[in-house]
Amino acid sequence: MQIQKDFSLKTYNTFGLNVKAKNFIAIRTINDLKKLIQKEKDFFVLGGGSNLLLTKDIDKLVIQIAFKGIEVIGEYDDHVLVQASAGENWHEFVMWCIDHDFGGVENLSLIPGNVGTAPIQNIGAYGVELKDTCMAVETIEIETGNTKTYANSDCKFGYRNSVFKNELKGKYIITNVLFKLSKNKHTLNSSYGAIQSELLKNGIKKPTIRDISNAVIAIRQSKLPDPKKIGNSGSFFKNPIISKAEFEKLRENFKDVPHYTVSKTEIKVPAGWLVEQCGFKGKRFGDAGIHKDQALVLVNYGTATGKEIYDLSKLIQRTVFEKFGIAIEAEVNII
Ligand code: EPU
Repeated sequence: MQIQKDFSLKTYNTFGLNVKAKNFIAIRTINDLKKLIQKEKDFFVLGGGSNLLLTKDIDKLVIQIAFKGIEVIGEYDDHVLVQASAGENWHEFVMWCIDHDFGGVENLSLIPGNVGTAPIQNIGAYGVELKDTCMAVETIEIETGNTKTYANSDCKFGYRNSVFKNELKGKYIITNVLFKLSKNKHTLNSSYGAIQSELLKNGIKKPTIRDISNAVIAIRQSKLPDPKKIGNSGSFFKNPIISKAEFEKLRENFKDVPHYTVSKTEIKVPAGWLVEQCGFKGKRFGDAGIHKDQALVLVNYGTATGKEIYDLSKLIQRTVFEKFGIAIEAEVNII
């Protein structure tokens, strides 16, 4: 275990922000983590750095979770139980599942980040969320060093939300995630319009999980910037959920507002539409900007600071609120 001083986190956050950690250590085993947290009490835990806006240097020890390993721990007639270590790259894990013909996570292809951070915000895309296949989340309690496993129902998964973002925030470190994946007969989720058009375009009538994954990869590559080329953190804002009454009022003035019904009383409005209507799509303020193909994604063209991106996000929130009376909330963690 080697601690490095004044360590640049530029390659450890997908916004590519050149922020320094006072001390940095990559931890590769659970035992090393247990030993470290016995003596270190003030630290910051870093996963894949894909849902993070770093606005300043981190004046403490940054622990990067780098445990590796994917293992089948149970095999049944129609499903398998797979345990994946927190430090595994999410997309590589999805590819591993597809190579083994295990179904359930194919719609979540190409989402940046690591396995261990996926449950925190219940990652989701194209009609599927992590919660649909996540059986349990294994953690270490920071205060005691004890292992504690949270079953799916204990994780309180919601839209881009979980117990790890709320009451358990900062109390536990996720070490492994357990998935229940289909074997042989897969239930495909291809209802999302963009997936259907992609399959149609390629003449695929009976898609496999790999076909779905390929379709999702093509859709994402067509409208989401690749963090390796342009720094970004995926959707910067959550899609706001408003009451039906508020929605009806909104529709009086903006009759074409896209929307999805969440429940009898709630409607979800795409934040990307709200931001685009305010004229931000494709705009650039120095090296901070709003992506040209998806207004929900803020980007760093090279030398933007976290503070510049943060200020831009605040300007967007204010403008959206003034125009529509809707408060849009950041999805990324702002440090
Ligand atoms: N829209 C616009 N302008 C834009 C972007 C979107 O008008 O610039 C409107 C369009 O009406 C479009 C609708 O919003 O039909 C939905 O857009 P899209 O399908 O791109 O999805 P989204 O709601 O913007 C969400 C997730 C994405 C996920 C996609 C697909 C959130 C915050 N974002 O975006 O997740 O990939 O659905 O399921 O829920 C992420 O979390 O980082 C992420 C990329």
